[in-house]
Amino acid sequence: MENPIFEELAFQENPLFERIITSLLDQKYAVVEDFFSPELIHQLRQVLLQKNEENSLKKAAIGNKTNQFIAREIRGDFIQWMDQSKANAVENTFFQRIENFINYLNKTCFMGILHKEFHYALYPKGTFYERHLDTFKNDDRRILSMVLYLNDQHWTIEKNGGELVIYTANGKDISLAPYPGRLVIFESHFLEHEVKPVKSGERLSITGWLKTR
Ligand code: OGA
Ligand code: MN
Repeated sequence: MENPIFEELAFQENPLFERIITSLLDQKYAVVEDFFSPELIHQLRQVLLQKNEENSLKKAAIGNKTNQFIAREIRGDFIQWMDQSKANAVENTFFQRIENFINYLNKTCFMGILHKEFHYALYPKGTFYERHLDTFKNDDRRILSMVLYLNDQHWTIEKNGGELVIYTANGKDISLAPYPGRLVIFESHFLEHEVKPVKSGERLSITGWLKTR
């Protein structure tokens, strides 16, 4: 288009984002295998492995900043919050894609997403996260939960465990293997979910939330 004003107004429909939105509307969750490129998944995995080697991941707590405690019998993962102001090139690519998605949701679904927060997570062998909801009693701003898996190529539920179980409204439980590159998105207010115990290996992911004001 010649006219820059038309270019600005032209809305580009994104088939992948549309698939996610349809799935969220139908069942309150979506599973996507190709949200990020395989190269980016590989690079994010390397970043997380490096952090683990440097011991910069810390035992995750329950609750939010004003109300938190560590409970090994509820969740056993180690995390590090991602700081976008200190992001490296790999993380910047990650955030860029997330921001495109947020802008799309706000434009097409009027979702009013104003904030995002993400952390790396590592579940050692034997750890799990009991059935829970991602919203806190004193903070209900989380509207969409996103989990991106960074496990090795050969991860299986049989050998490694660590599946995500989503408890849907119709009573049907969905069990999802944490395959590398898989992104699971679900409505934070509605869907209870659980991470089953890791049987072997280390379960790697980036987990985050899109939030309203
Ligand atoms: C969480 C969570 C799910 C997963 O961190 O709140 O539920 O599959 N994670 O890692
Ligand atoms: Mn959760």
